[in-house]
Amino acid sequence: MRIAFFDTKEYDIPAFTRLGEEAGIEFKFFETRLGEDTAELARGYDGVCLFVNDVLSAPVAEKLYAAGVRVAALRCAGYNNVDLAACFGKLHVVRVPAYSPYAVAEHTMALLLTSVRRIHKAYNRTREFNFSLSGLTGFDLHGKTVGIVGTGKIGRVFADICRGFGMHVLGFDPYPAEGAGIEYVSEDELLARSDILSLHCPLTEENFHFLNADTLAKCKTGVVILNTSRGALIDAEALVESIKARKVGAACLDVYEEESDLFFRDFSGHIVEDDTLARLISMPNVIVTSHQAFLTGEALENIAETTVKNLTAFAAGAPLENELCYQCGRVEECRKSRRERCF
Ligand code: NAI
Repeated sequence: MRIAFFDTKEYDIPAFTRLGEEAGIEFKFFETRLGEDTAELARGYDGVCLFVNDVLSAPVAEKLYAAGVRVAALRCAGYNNVDLAACFGKLHVVRVPAYSPYAVAEHTMALLLTSVRRIHKAYNRTREFNFSLSGLTGFDLHGKTVGIVGTGKIGRVFADICRGFGMHVLGFDPYPAEGAGIEYVSEDELLARSDILSLHCPLTEENFHFLNADTLAKCKTGVVILNTSRGALIDAEALVESIKARKVGAACLDVYEEESDLFFRDFSGHIVEDDTLARLISMPNVIVTSHQAFLTGEALENIAETTVKNLTAFAAGAPLENELCYQCGRVEECRKSRRERCF
């Protein structure tokens, strides 16, 4: 089996090469991202392997199908970059639903602690032998209320971590997790009561700009916003305005709405054109990491392992446990629940 691997980073290659060889899968690593202009590179391959900023839109699905590709393996959990309806009947879409919820949840806590204890400021100061404590006053997390939007795998691990710090955990999720020790409340109550708000839901059409000028206005003054989920859950311009108005006390962002042109690349010698991102990065109470919450050795190994398993099952004509289609979750009796392929 031959797979065209798009948006390759050096950290992808070792595990995929090793596990691929063991399974008889040859990966061809392309640095470029998948899109309309690059889909033709996959001609002659059985499948494509994609990451968060590759685009599998309707025209790309058409081109891949015409080029003989029959499977698209996402090496990530989120799939907002895939037009599932357009793929249906042409490409089987498989993903890695979980690889390390700990990696993402722990990064979220790392961001929160860095922000509230001003570690990023202290680190820069002590490197220059500036041992002043002026402006470094933080606050205790113990006794604070954290609101978690989306209490799935990652949200629940983050809830556990927060409880370990003595925080009170509120949740908002259309499918509450019973017995998870989370107090479920309405969206408005979550916004009104949370000292810290953390987003852990997938990006969908319904929750695009979940945090916007209106919802940010409903938050507590001084709220700390954490987003390690997907950038477009937050209207970044509204966030800038809320920080300038001192409504939002701090923001920690591992994802950004317009990240696809910037993240994962080195722009240190360039003038960045995105004024909203530049403004956010210039603010002392904003921390940005470039979609790295998943990046642990354990997660990379699990991602490669599940992706290779998904592709091996596809090649064997077996049921695809991690297949996605546009009907998933929308029809009562889906084919996948009967252990059949989606089409
Ligand atoms: P999951 O599927 O286990 O949980 C998602 C939860 O969100 C579910 O309980 C679902 O009911 C809930 N949900 C859906 N729509 C909602 C809405 N409108 N409001 C509130 N809750 C809603 O997913 P998991 O594994 O916990 O991942 C969550 C998200 O984290 C992924 O969709 C992905 O976007 C993001 N992610 C980010 C990574 C990073 O490196 N920054 C890495 C992995 C995932």
